[in-house]
Amino acid sequence: MHKLVRSARFAVKTLRQTSLCARTITTTPFPEFADLSQLKSHDDLHKFSLENPEQFWGRLALSRLQWDEEFQSVLNCELEKGEIDWFLGGKLNASVNCVDRHLATRGDQLALIWERDEPGTEEYVTYRELSEMVGQIANVLRNSGVKKGGRVAIYLPMAPITVATMLACARIGAVHSVVFAGFSAEALASRIQDAEVETVVTADQGVRGGRIIPLKQAVDAAVAQCPSVKRVFVYQRTGADVPMGPKDIPLEKAMSGESTECAPVSLASEDTLFMLYTSGSTGKPKGIAHSIAGYLLYVATTFKHVFDYQPGERFGCVADIGWITGHSYALYGPLCCGATTLLFESSPIYPNPGRYWEMVQRLQLNHIYLAPTSLRLLLKAGDSWVNKYDLSSLRTLGCVGEPLNHEAWDWYYEVVGQKRCDVIDTWWQTETGGICISPRPSSPGAHIEPGMPMRPFFGIKPVLVDEKNEEVNGEDVEGALCLGSLWPGMARTIYGDHQRYIETYLKPCPGLYYTGDGAHRHKGGNYQITGRMDDVVNVTGHRLGTAELEDIMDTHPDVAESAVVGFPHDIKGEGIFAFVVLKEGVKHSHDDIAQALRAAVKQGIASYAQPDFILFTNGLPWTRSGKIMRRILRKIASNQADELGDVSTLADPSVVEGIVKGYKALH
Ligand code: WTA
Repeated sequence: MHKLVRSARFAVKTLRQTSLCARTITTTPFPEFADLSQLKSHDDLHKFSLENPEQFWGRLALSRLQWDEEFQSVLNCELEKGEIDWFLGGKLNASVNCVDRHLATRGDQLALIWERDEPGTEEYVTYRELSEMVGQIANVLRNSGVKKGGRVAIYLPMAPITVATMLACARIGAVHSVVFAGFSAEALASRIQDAEVETVVTADQGVRGGRIIPLKQAVDAAVAQCPSVKRVFVYQRTGADVPMGPKDIPLEKAMSGESTECAPVSLASEDTLFMLYTSGSTGKPKGIAHSIAGYLLYVATTFKHVFDYQPGERFGCVADIGWITGHSYALYGPLCCGATTLLFESSPIYPNPGRYWEMVQRLQLNHIYLAPTSLRLLLKAGDSWVNKYDLSSLRTLGCVGEPLNHEAWDWYYEVVGQKRCDVIDTWWQTETGGICISPRPSSPGAHIEPGMPMRPFFGIKPVLVDEKNEEVNGEDVEGALCLGSLWPGMARTIYGDHQRYIETYLKPCPGLYYTGDGAHRHKGGNYQITGRMDDVVNVTGHRLGTAELEDIMDTHPDVAESAVVGFPHDIKGEGIFAFVVLKEGVKHSHDDIAQALRAAVKQGIASYAQPDFILFTNGLPWTRSGKIMRRILRKIASNQADELGDVSTLADPSVVEGIVKGYKALH
């Protein structure tokens, strides 16, 4: 039995039906299956992908990746041991797949658009220029002693050099471990130590939202605690005069002495491409490891079909490369498909809340892929920031990371997309490598349902499981979301701790991959994510997804965003504590709004779901990766504000003080 599901009962989501989105979905067909005449519809192909994963992924692997040596088998697996091998016997190189193979046909096409912090100072990099940069950095790394399998920590701002460094690692078979350049020196040090990193690549400084981020200074503090580090390459982002020690090597200077050509190493399919630590909001960070062929195939395929990317289009994933979204959909997916991809260095509100939209107009982006948290922030700033700009180039409005509540969904669809664009809410995880559930691809003419990612991708079989580990069948049901199929993009291990990988993902529900999320399967088989299983609140024996409560509260016209946690309650087991951020210029009193919110929850779910406490606060503790750190809110709600622990991964740690003060005033 898996422990995390604490009750059989999940709250049933009241779905607001809408006719707003009876839209025709655009989808690109799969030429690889054109000869199979029995596969007539989207559903036929989906069924085929689940019943014949070897044929499905085998055909795609041959046509979409460039191999040095073809694989001998598609899938070998001993699930209980967590031994999952795709494309054994195959040899390839990820940097060749992402760069070299495009040179003959699109060497002069843009690979990267670097949207630097200051609007209007963007830079462009063609595939040929990227190839030269990758070659030089690969030579620098190799000649300085970086070997196949060696770990390289990358602590760089969003810039072409960052992408080139990652691809240079891939070229020589080194394993990159990108650490978000907003993490503290301590967070960086623990990641360096965990992977026994010898090589670090950083910059003098970063720039974000007009503010300087002292990257080299943080690296110096981290490296002082990390004896494994032998060398630190320093890229000049600002040209600041930073102190250079004996291990430090100026990167551009080292590059200028190297050839732009570097022979790629032919690597096995299952060699590790990279590791990436999952956000530290629970326990010790896990170094999630992805292997070359499976990951690359999965992100390239999902990129092409979820976003329906067409040649020549400009794809704008605004996620930082320090997160999996940046890896999969700013770098590997787009470049493997020969796309033009954006690198966004700035902030959604710099210099003002019109930044994204001004950028879309200026750069003529066709797709934007962002986080619901930034949407809610921008929504709060008002429609005028959107309406100023011509967004007619946009076709896809993507989002990822947390539930896209109805109010944000509507705003995205109506105000940003002017009802012209598909809103594509994508569900996936660092561990899944790429998108697993999303409205696209689908049959032509299919609907998009607001507030949920809806449909499993090809090869993905969502399974809902109850607390007895039994599969929950039928529609309009909830359970722990597991995946009952194997897909090539899934993580293969936790670096240095394979047992933890097995325990976390494969043991809770034997035979299935355990996601840790809860989901609701609606009518028509559409999936809605109800939130992390560990964010579930149990009130008088009734289980409530915090996301559901938040969705209802966020719909109130005065509410900008909210977060709900449980706290110990003498009578009910757990009570509900809601932290609510109001929009600017709200006219109603707090009491009136609180009353309206309680009524809305009662109406939307049930009276037991009404919050015991509603605290109005100026902000929520968002991590830099765009998640609310609920651990902190739970502690505050439980009157344990003196045990908050590490808050250094928060985007703005000062928010916490305000919430604690508010809590004290409330009691
Ligand atoms: C959550 C980000 C609701 C979920 C790619 C998951 C979502 C975790 C969605 C993974 C979505 C991601 N709707 N929740 N569309 N997408 N999540 O590893 O709880 O940073 O388990 O990967 O984010 O976060 P991670």
